[in-house]
Amino acid sequence: MTKEELLQAKERADAVVLAHYYVPEEVQAIADCVGDSFYLAKIAADTEKQTIVFCGVRFMGESAKILNPSRRVLLPDESADCPMAHMASAEQIARLRAEVPDLAVVCYINSSAALKGLSDVCVTSSNAVKIVRALPNKNILFIPDENLGRWVQKKVPEKNFYFSGGHCPVHACLTAEAVAAAKAAHPAAAVAAHPECRGEILALADFVGSTSEIIGFAKKRPAGELIVATEPGVLYELKRQCPGGKFYPVTGVCEDMKRVTLAKTLACLSGGGYEVRVDETAAAAARRPLKRMLELAEQDKK
Ligand code: 13P
Ligand code: SF4
Repeated sequence: MTKEELLQAKERADAVVLAHYYVPEEVQAIADCVGDSFYLAKIAADTEKQTIVFCGVRFMGESAKILNPSRRVLLPDESADCPMAHMASAEQIARLRAEVPDLAVVCYINSSAALKGLSDVCVTSSNAVKIVRALPNKNILFIPDENLGRWVQKKVPEKNFYFSGGHCPVHACLTAEAVAAAKAAHPAAAVAAHPECRGEILALADFVGSTSEIIGFAKKRPAGELIVATEPGVLYELKRQCPGGKFYPVTGVCEDMKRVTLAKTLACLSGGGYEVRVDETAAAAARRPLKRMLELAEQDKK
């Protein structure tokens, strides 16, 4: 498909194509917006287009539909799901709510709509510290990612944290030995890590942040060497933004994100794809914590 044909197909479908940094690079290349989870959620919430083609995993499409329910949200691959999105239970939340006074349930956006609906506020890796700090509650149940939650705990030591014990299988597999080996092989390189990595990895990092924040860190030293402790899909944008840089990925591939192929993405523009539907009662419950995230993340910015 030529550039012109692609533009026409997007126009005919009245579609905006959003892509996360972890999807294959040929999909990122044809997207209208590429970004981290927070940026993409904001764009989805505000778009005027009738159709949102969300090149990412299910929780991303669900969040877009919940935030902008009159739009048609299409996922290129129905089976692309984040395993961590299900790593907490209604029972865990109910038990802790009954046991612990002054508790806020803080839900990472990498979660099912049902879990969001049981929570007080959503967060992404780029705003979790700011939002948890701003909450009036002393006690925090952080679901489902314990690694991100423990990193937030370090930054907000004045609060008590509880965890549901979930993790991202892609980031949690990374070992300190693998990072040490990369550092030995590339002694001039800095280490940038995603907070979904385990604490022992974050302790070795020069910078910890979301995918967009890692790209921002790299841009400050564009000709530098960087050991990248997040999914290697982010290297496409890193190389585009910093052509003089050298990047060494140490994390495995997210198979779910890689299910979002170019062919399936283009099919969404001509009647294909999987339409995301969220039951209205579930959507209404999940909309509240998602909107609270958007509000709290923007506070003090103006
Ligand atoms: P961010 O892009 O928000 O850093 O999220 C990473 C991720 O794991 C998305 O699934
Ligand atoms: Fe989920 Fe991890 Fe894949 Fe992100 S990288 S979608 S958190 S499995």
